[in-house]
Amino acid sequence: MRVLVTGGAGFIGSSFVRYLLSHHPDDSVLNLDKLTYAGSLENLGDVEDDPQYSFMHGDICDEAVVGEAMGRVDAVVNFAAESHVDRSIQSAGAFIDTDIKGVYTLLEAARKRNIGRFLHVSTDEVYGSIENGSFLETDPLDPSSPYSASKAGGEVMARAFARTFGYRVLITRGSNTYGPYQYPEKVIPLFITNLIDGQQVPLYGDGLNVRDWLYVDDHCSGIDAVLRTGTPGEAYNIGGEQERTNLELTHKLLELLVQGEEMIRPVKDRPGHDRRYSIDTSKARALGWCPQVGFEEGLARTVAWYQENESWWRRIKDGSYREYYRQMYANR
Ligand code: NAD
Ligand code: TYD
Repeated sequence: MRVLVTGGAGFIGSSFVRYLLSHHPDDSVLNLDKLTYAGSLENLGDVEDDPQYSFMHGDICDEAVVGEAMGRVDAVVNFAAESHVDRSIQSAGAFIDTDIKGVYTLLEAARKRNIGRFLHVSTDEVYGSIENGSFLETDPLDPSSPYSASKAGGEVMARAFARTFGYRVLITRGSNTYGPYQYPEKVIPLFITNLIDGQQVPLYGDGLNVRDWLYVDDHCSGIDAVLRTGTPGEAYNIGGEQERTNLELTHKLLELLVQGEEMIRPVKDRPGHDRRYSIDTSKARALGWCPQVGFEEGLARTVAWYQENESWWRRIKDGSYREYYRQMYANR
């Protein structure tokens, strides 16, 4: 396959590019990325000379760029997105552009060229919060944040292309993902890097919100399984089935980084904060996929990576991130 990976310079996208090149050496990968604050070619330094890999700098909302990229591939996996809930609360414009209009632009170009497979990477956040039990793929979407609402918008457009045009779209709804190269705005890398620097960690509300943690390699293998063996027109939940409260997660990180309870700074809750995410993954498991990395192991690996790759995250944290952090956390 010749695969167009959009957003391949971001956290999960870069891991997926690496996954494809190592697991499917006959595939070629074209990475189309706008290189927003969240994307960096540094995340793919180890594959940039691979003859099966190429990079195109561009925006998924740009019809001309997208058309050119589509001319060179026979499958699309769309990771490109604005991805952070807190930023979407500050300002949602870029989310609507990329997560809705960008998805439409890709779908339209792919459908017109009859690209064989189109996988749209969505999120479990489109279901909204669930108190007990787990969401099934057939449950209605009820997003809470501007981020998840935009992701739901892109996703229902993808579904509409399947229903209206019979276009072969696949959707994955992944749960909270963690691992190397995650931008330190998301809770796990933010807390790890703060603790390495002896800085307190800002825990929202009562800390009892629950997330289902999925190691990044397991998310990639799930997406690849759906891409190759999923039924077109269908959605698949990809979850780690490793639910933890944020407080449990924080205690685990304090333990791994040998720090005390006093490093927790309780802060004002996020507005519209979903209490619990939980998805049933039987449908993806029926494809033969199964997550391999448990939470304790994945978290220890992740902490070790941030300890060993300080220059990667210091470059980010020393730049415009400082202003972001001040705005988000200074008076909270
Ligand atoms: P990320 O923010 O780390 O990376 C996003 C990438 O997309 C960056 O490289 C950025 O430059 C690129 N991008 C943004 N706008 C673009 C545009 N208009 N055109 C081209 N490229 C653009 O995100 P991530 O955490 O790796 O998430 C990837 C995908 O997975 C997203 O669609 C996200 O919604 C979904 N997802 C993420 C998680 C998670 O926990 N991180 C969980 C489930 C689903
Ligand atoms: P986050 O990593 O932003 O992912 P999402 O909002 O997409 O689930 O947040 C994960 C959880 O951690 C969520 O319940 C909010 C909480 N959180 C904090 O307590 N403090 C923080 O500084 C951040 C960024 C998140």
